[in-house]
Amino acid sequence: MYSLELRGATKRYPGGGAEPVVALDDVDFAVEPGEFVAVVGPSGSGKSTLLNVLGLLDDPTEGQRLLDGTDVTSLSVAQRTAARKESIGFVFQDFHLLPTLTAVENVALPTAFDPGDASDRAADLLSRFGLGDRLGHEPAELSGGQKQRVAIARSLINEPAVLLADEPTGNLDTETGESILAEFERVKEEGVAVVAVTHDPLVEGFADRVVELTDGVLVGGVPDGGERADEPRPGPETATAGDR
Ligand SMILES: Nc1ncnc2c1ncn2[C@@H]1O[C@H](COP(=O)(O)OP(=O)(O)OP(=O)(O)O)[C@@H](O)[C@H]1O
Ligand SMILES: [Mg+2]
Repeated sequence: MYSLELRGATKRYPGGGAEPVVALDDVDFAVEPGEFVAVVGPSGSGKSTLLNVLGLLDDPTEGQRLLDGTDVTSLSVAQRTAARKESIGFVFQDFHLLPTLTAVENVALPTAFDPGDASDRAADLLSRFGLGDRLGHEPAELSGGQKQRVAIARSLINEPAVLLADEPTGNLDTETGESILAEFERVKEEGVAVVAVTHDPLVEGFADRVVELTDGVLVGGVPDGGERADEPRPGPETATAGDR
């Protein structure tokens, strides 16, 4: 079973009077547990849109989305929040760290409403990313690459089944990028599905599969042998979670 899957997913943004923008065009995508997929493509080709739709941050206009085999095409806000917290780690291109929290508090933030104190685990994650001596620093006191590593540590605090990362090595020197990728490799070996948008050949080198987006059209989105050419594709009217 796939960790995460899109079937015939289209994402259209309203064009503000002009033609709508087709950011994803009939995309089939799947990632298996323990697989590392790199998503490449030119600026504006739909990479962040793909990641947002995969990460339940945005819904497809048409098509179907499955998380661990369960249809999660359209969920209520509460269901979506629960599913994301349970299963998905997300590293944003611009980090989304809270400026008034320290590094360790930012990493522990996703567990804020859980019983117990996650600061030891947060500190441990930060140490693994070479930030053991920056636990009490606020984002403004950290370099771009250090903030990025805090964001990656935070994405792992809930031990997600799927890790989605937008340009995870974008601000990092080669050595730091390699240590992050080694950490992704370790996470992957624990069975986590990793999907990373990248322009970095280093990331492509680490990936099990590289998929390419051009103007919203995805090539190589489904693992070999996993094509569903014989299956009818659900139309927009059938592709809702309520159909289960
Ligand atoms: N909220 C939005 N409303 C309208 N159009 C949008 C919106 N978000 C993205 N787009 C458009 O959708 C297309 C895909 O955008 P997206 O951000 O997914 O590209 P990208 O591949 O991530 O680009 P980059 O490499 O520059 O980050 C672009 O044409 C963009 O202008
Ligand atoms: Mg983008």
